[in-house]
Amino acid sequence: MNLAQPLHELTDLSPGLAEFRQAVVAGLSASPKTLPCKFLYDVEGSRLFDRICELPEYYPTRTELALLRARAGEIAALAGSGAALVEFGSGAGVKIRLLLAALRDPALYVPVDISREHLAAAARGLAQDFPELPILPVCADYTAPFALPVPPGMAPRRRVGFFPGSTIGNFTPEEATAFLRVTARLLGPGSLMIVGADLPKDPAVLLAAYDDAAGVTAAFNLNLLRRINRELGAGFDLSAFRHEARWNAAESRMEMHLVSRRAQVVPLGEASFRLAAGESIHTENSYKYGIEAFIRLGESAGYRALKVWTDPAGLFSIHALEVPG
Ligand code: TRP
Repeated sequence: MNLAQPLHELTDLSPGLAEFRQAVVAGLSASPKTLPCKFLYDVEGSRLFDRICELPEYYPTRTELALLRARAGEIAALAGSGAALVEFGSGAGVKIRLLLAALRDPALYVPVDISREHLAAAARGLAQDFPELPILPVCADYTAPFALPVPPGMAPRRRVGFFPGSTIGNFTPEEATAFLRVTARLLGPGSLMIVGADLPKDPAVLLAAYDDAAGVTAAFNLNLLRRINRELGAGFDLSAFRHEARWNAAESRMEMHLVSRRAQVVPLGEASFRLAAGESIHTENSYKYGIEAFIRLGESAGYRALKVWTDPAGLFSIHALEVPG
């Protein structure tokens, strides 16, 4: 393999239709009803999510970007030169540009994302901006263990995981611990993990961020039903559901629901699912961790907390964790 040539071959480990169907049937059979949030990100869902990130009410993206811009040099110093960067849930690739531009001689970039088309397009765009950098995209559900495609003969100095966007908050705390454990094992001793985590704040600010005036978040949530109709042949009537964002103070989390506007029966192949008027399908959580709570979470997964940065308004945090070596 000629390592002087950039590498862009995509490893495809994305979940298949059978897994999608099984997860949907299990979620709709449960009480209360749920749907797994990772399936929100089909082509249309990924596009809508990129629009959410630019909404005036959705503060996390621009706050984290400003924080990264201010701290990229410090993060790069922790990473050292010749690092291999692994990004979990890479999306549109805006944040990674800031980090890559600050790193000294990055050896490799591995973007991992569940949305194949989005991943491939983002990797192509990045390859134009960083022509020297080997890029090895992996299309995968990163909640399940997978292997890193480090080319034989390449010896990156330090492995650096990057998990921005407060996506860690979309796991339950138990799932978040399990995920962090998987990443610690994947990255190996001495590695660094940079995680963006949204902070608890005034519920009014949170409610607006997850139910914007233009209705983009509502469209994003409802798109999950459209995807289930298209890919699994279900019969959801989208006009019979409305998006609802709730603040659950006891759990310190935002919840996204799709609430049935009337009593109805939804057909899905051989099966059918009955919903009462006002009954909800819970599609997503977004946990908000205070700084101490997040450090405890990282430590429970075997990481050592190195450093934490927050913006001046105290909206968002970025944690640097280290796998003890
Ligand atoms: N990681 C994002 C967050 O928790 C995901 C997200 C933002 C989201 N807006 C949403 C998920 C609306 C579902 C619905 O902020």
